[in-house]
Amino acid sequence: MSAARHPLDPLTEAEVRAAVAAARGATAELGLPAFWQVSLQDPPKAEVVAHVAGARFERRAFVGMVDRADGAVYELLVRLADAPAEASAGGATVESCRRIEGVQPPILPEDYTAAIAAVEADERFRIGLRRRGIEDLSLIQIDALTAGHFPQNPEGRRIIWATPYLRQGPGSNPYARPIEHLRAAVDLNSGEVVEVIDDDPVVPLSTVDGDYATEADVGGWRTDIAPLEIVQPDGPGFRLDGNEIAWQRWRMHIGLHPVDGLVLSHIRYEDEGVERQIVYRAAVSEMVVPYGDPHKGFYWRTYFDGGEYGLGRNANSLTLGCDCLGEIRYLDGVQVDAAGEPSVLTNAICIHEEDDSILWKHTDPGIGDVQVRRSRRLVISSIATVGNYDYGFYWSFFQDGSIELEVKLTGIVLTRGVFPDQELRHGERVAPDLAAPHHQHLFNVRLDMAVDGFENTVEEVDLVACEAGPDNPWGQALETRVETIERESAGKRSVEPAANRSWRIVNRGVRNHLGEPVGYRLVPFNGPTLLASPDSSVGRRAGFAGAHLWVTRYAPDELHAAGDYPNQHPGGAGLPEWIEQDRDLLDTDVVVWHTLGVSHAVRPEDWPIMPVDRVAFMLRPVGFFRRNPAVDVPPSEPGHCRAGGEGRGHCGSLGSDE
Ligand code: CO
Repeated sequence: MSAARHPLDPLTEAEVRAAVAAARGATAELGLPAFWQVSLQDPPKAEVVAHVAGARFERRAFVGMVDRADGAVYELLVRLADAPAEASAGGATVESCRRIEGVQPPILPEDYTAAIAAVEADERFRIGLRRRGIEDLSLIQIDALTAGHFPQNPEGRRIIWATPYLRQGPGSNPYARPIEHLRAAVDLNSGEVVEVIDDDPVVPLSTVDGDYATEADVGGWRTDIAPLEIVQPDGPGFRLDGNEIAWQRWRMHIGLHPVDGLVLSHIRYEDEGVERQIVYRAAVSEMVVPYGDPHKGFYWRTYFDGGEYGLGRNANSLTLGCDCLGEIRYLDGVQVDAAGEPSVLTNAICIHEEDDSILWKHTDPGIGDVQVRRSRRLVISSIATVGNYDYGFYWSFFQDGSIELEVKLTGIVLTRGVFPDQELRHGERVAPDLAAPHHQHLFNVRLDMAVDGFENTVEEVDLVACEAGPDNPWGQALETRVETIERESAGKRSVEPAANRSWRIVNRGVRNHLGEPVGYRLVPFNGPTLLASPDSSVGRRAGFAGAHLWVTRYAPDELHAAGDYPNQHPGGAGLPEWIEQDRDLLDTDVVVWHTLGVSHAVRPEDWPIMPVDRVAFMLRPVGFFRRNPAVDVPPSEPGHCRAGGEGRGHCGSLGSDE
C-alpha cells in the first residue's frame, strides 16, 4: 500500500511502524506491552473539508497498548511525518500518553491462540473432556468468548471463557457438537487458567449432521443454475483515486477501521455542478449479540462484536466471483498485530455497481408512451467473521440521492446440546438433541450528518390522521406532526410504525426553492430494540440498544455507542452517559445514532449454515433537491422499452429484476 494521499487515509504500514516505534520508546518501562490498536487519529473536520489534492497534511496515530504485567491500558497520540511524504520527513513523536486503569482492551487474535493453548494444557479441563468420553484433542475447537460483566466472573482480571466444541472430522462443523457444562476462564494477561467449570449432568454430544461444505455433505449439488455473467465492457462506472471514489454524482472517501470496519467519509452529491455535503462520517459504531437463555451456559453470552472483537480486525479478504460478482475493484486494509507489526489484508473492501431494477416508470395510456429507467447502485461492502457468525455490511448509493446500509447476517447459529425429551422455553431445536437459544443482533450506526454543512437540526416527523371535528368533516384528513429535537435529553427516540415516524436532519440556514430547510430523512428500521431488561447486565452495558435513535452534539472522542472499552465493562458508558450533558442540538454539529437489528428465534432452515438474513435503513433526501435528481438518467436504449416489447435484451437482462 502506497503513501497516504488524503487526510482520512488509514495508516500505511510505514506509518504503523513509525507510530509503534515511537510508542515503544515512550513506554520503555512497561513490563509486557501489547498493542491492541494502531489507527489513524482522525484530523479535524475543517482540515478534511478544505483539503485539496496534492496539498500537505498532518498525520497522527492513535496507539492503544496494554501492559500485560499489570493490566493497565495506555492511550498514546503520536504525531507522524506530514503527508504526502517528503524525503526529509522526520520521525514520529509521542504527543500524549495516558494511563487508564479499570478498563479492558478488546480480545486480540493472539489472545485466542494463547488461551486455547493454556486450556488444552490444563489438567482440570482435560479431565472434563475425559468425563465426556473425549481423549483426542485434535478435533476440539475452543472458542474464546467474551465474559461480560457478572459478579460470578473471576474478579479484576482480563478474561475470556474458553468454550469447547468437537468436530466429527477435520473439516466438520464444530457447532454441531457443543460440549456442554464445561468451560474455562483464562486470564489473557497472565495466560493462567483461572477457573474451570465442569458441571453435571454430562449431556451426550449431538448426533446431528452439521456439514455443508462439500457435495457429499449436502447429498449432491443442484444442476439447474443457468450461467449469469455481469459484464461491463468499458470497466466500472466509478473512478477510484486512492481511497477516494467518484461515481456518477457521488463523491466520498472509503476506509477500514479496526473497530468500526468499513468507514465512509465526506459523502457528497454533485448537484447541478455543485458538490453538496450530506454525511461527514458513516460507520457501524457498535453491535451486540445478547442471548436470551438463562441457562448457565448461556446467560453470560453478550458479544459486543465491535468493541470487544473489532469489525475491521476480523474483516475477510474477499474473493472475486464469490463474495462479489461483476466488475469489481477492491481496497486493501492494514491490520496490526499485538506485537505492533502491520500486515496488508488484501481485498478487504469490495466496490462494484449493480443493476437495481427500475428507477422510475410511467405508462401514459392516453398516447401509449412508456418511459422507464433502470436504476443503478454503487455498492461498497466488507464482511467480518466473528466466531460462528459472519456479518456483511453493504452501503448502497442510488441515483436518486438515497443511501442505504444493509447488514447481511450469515454463518452458523450458536448451539446448545440438549436432551431429546427436555422441555425448551428459550430457544428452538434444529435437531432433537441440538438447540439454538433465542438472541438478538443489534447494530448501532453512527451518522455524523453534514447536510449542506455542519450546522444541522433533527426533527421527528409523524404522519397522522387529524382529529374529528369541523376541520375534518369527512374523517379522512391527514397531517404531519413535527417535533424539533432541541436537547440531548430529548434525543433518545423510538420508532412508531403506525405514524410512519422518521427523523429529518435539516439545515435551517439553507433553504430550497420552496423556502423550506434542505434535509435528509432517516428512514428507520421498524422492529424491536434490546428486549432484555434495561437493568440486566447487558441492558446496562448496551444502553445504546435501548432506543432506535439518539442525537448528540458532535465531540471528536464520542465514536462508539457503548464507549471505547465495552469488554467486561459494568455498563453506563457511551450514549447514555454522553446525553447526560444535555447539550443543545439546534443549528449545530449533530450526530445521529440509529439502532437496528435482527431478533432471532432460530428456524430449522438456519441449520447447518444460515441463509443470509438482512436488516437495513435508508437516508433519503427530503427537500434537498428541487426535483427528482434522477430525472436525467437516460433510457437504456431509446425507443426499445415499449409495452410488451422485447427491448432487444437491454431492458431487464442485467441482473435482478424484482
Ligand atoms: Co442469529
